[in-house]
Amino acid sequence: MSKTAILEIDGKKYEFPIVEGTENELAIDIKSLRGDTNGITTLDPGYKNTGSCESAITFLNGEEGILRYRGYSIEELAEKADFLEVAYLLIFGELPTKSQLEKFHNDIKAQSHVDEDVKKIIDGFPKSAHPMGVLSSLTSALVAFNPSSVNVDSEEEMYNAIVRILAKFPVLTAWAYRKRVGLPLDYGDDNLGYVENFLKMMFKKPSGEYVSNKVVVESLDKLLILHADHEQNCSTSTVRMVGSSHAGLFVSISAGIAALWGPLHGGANQAVIEMLEAIKEDGGDTKKFMAKAKDKDDPFRLMGFGHRVYKNFDPRAKIIKRSADNVLDALGIEDPVLDIAKGLEREALEDSYFVDRKLYPNVDFYSGIIYRALGIPVEMFTPMFALGRLPGWIAQWREMRLRKEPIGRPRQVYIGEKLRSFKDISNR
Ligand code: CMC
Repeated sequence: MSKTAILEIDGKKYEFPIVEGTENELAIDIKSLRGDTNGITTLDPGYKNTGSCESAITFLNGEEGILRYRGYSIEELAEKADFLEVAYLLIFGELPTKSQLEKFHNDIKAQSHVDEDVKKIIDGFPKSAHPMGVLSSLTSALVAFNPSSVNVDSEEEMYNAIVRILAKFPVLTAWAYRKRVGLPLDYGDDNLGYVENFLKMMFKKPSGEYVSNKVVVESLDKLLILHADHEQNCSTSTVRMVGSSHAGLFVSISAGIAALWGPLHGGANQAVIEMLEAIKEDGGDTKKFMAKAKDKDDPFRLMGFGHRVYKNFDPRAKIIKRSADNVLDALGIEDPVLDIAKGLEREALEDSYFVDRKLYPNVDFYSGIIYRALGIPVEMFTPMFALGRLPGWIAQWREMRLRKEPIGRPRQVYIGEKLRSFKDISNR
């Protein structure tokens, strides 16, 4: 028998269906609430208790530390799949066959050019511009050069827009970096894999060949897989919200990049390394910074700790921590900041402040250490997160459009002034 929830207001009872997900998650379906109750709404700042959609893409259980894409565990995907396969899986729902993957990759390669006029836009940015801002602007500017990507009424048009953004986004990411460091903008090489090609576009020196390093390619591939989707997080919800007005895929992604930029979201990976560096510079006294993080009068937070959904270990952090050790080992790098990070983690996991609040290391705690070992500079950490999250944003946007979801438009509880009369400026 299907479950229902009863809500009682002023003695009157209202009944709402309870929806059950495939992993037995329960949600009270309040679609009829305002109509039934003559305008009563719900209030849930930060949407801590609100499901904004039904989705078949990613399953996350924060209490048990589970993350799955389309039913496959993140642990298995990180070990056995490559990033492009995972992108296909997220977007289209199934792992690709060999020929499907080949076609997908070839379609991407065929679109990997960016209009030369985009370089003029890049020229207009100061070198000091943060690459996330540059990336968000360029992704939005791409619409002007690909106007057909806006109206996607058929699945074919949608596919073309998806392949275009997957092809051009790594170019823009690499260009945002090259502009910052004063390197000439470069194109990729169709003979290389998706991730290897991105690394070539980032790091090829004008005077020399790009020499690929297997450890670097595989580590980055794994990191991108771990970042590829995370259900209805801040940037993904932004992508779905913007997309719900049918504004187009590229601008929806551009808005997602802006949301990801913030230090409470994707920007945390940059903030973590800056924090670890600051602790090192200060003499390495982790206890002092732990005390600051616990002090309610101090705005300092232990960056890379805590998560809205995970109240247990972030499964991505576990994989990344192991990977950080392996990558540094394989590349023969010693990074004192890794020891500071491990020390902080040890202390936090034994400290009642963090234990009681269920604050564990999240995906950003160790990822910066790997990025740094791979030669990726700090200000590019969040763009790397964006590159990884791109397939997830696309998958969520596509799902939203195919399910013909209504435009996102939350309600509010108004707490401002009641009606009052306009005062002439001389009387204010
Ligand atoms: N350091 C110190 N205290 C913390 C931290 C932290 N990193 N995170 C949460 N708290 C405390 C917070 O002060 C609050 O304490 P109290 O109950 O006494 O007021 C309690 O823990 C609950 O925190 P909250 O801010 O209500 O939790 P939230 O779900 O709104 O925020 C968060 C989640 C990720 C924004 C937060 O944990 C945070 O700011 N972490 C640091 C930034 C960070 O690492 N962000 C990356 C998130 S993972 C990547 C991604 O998906 O974007």
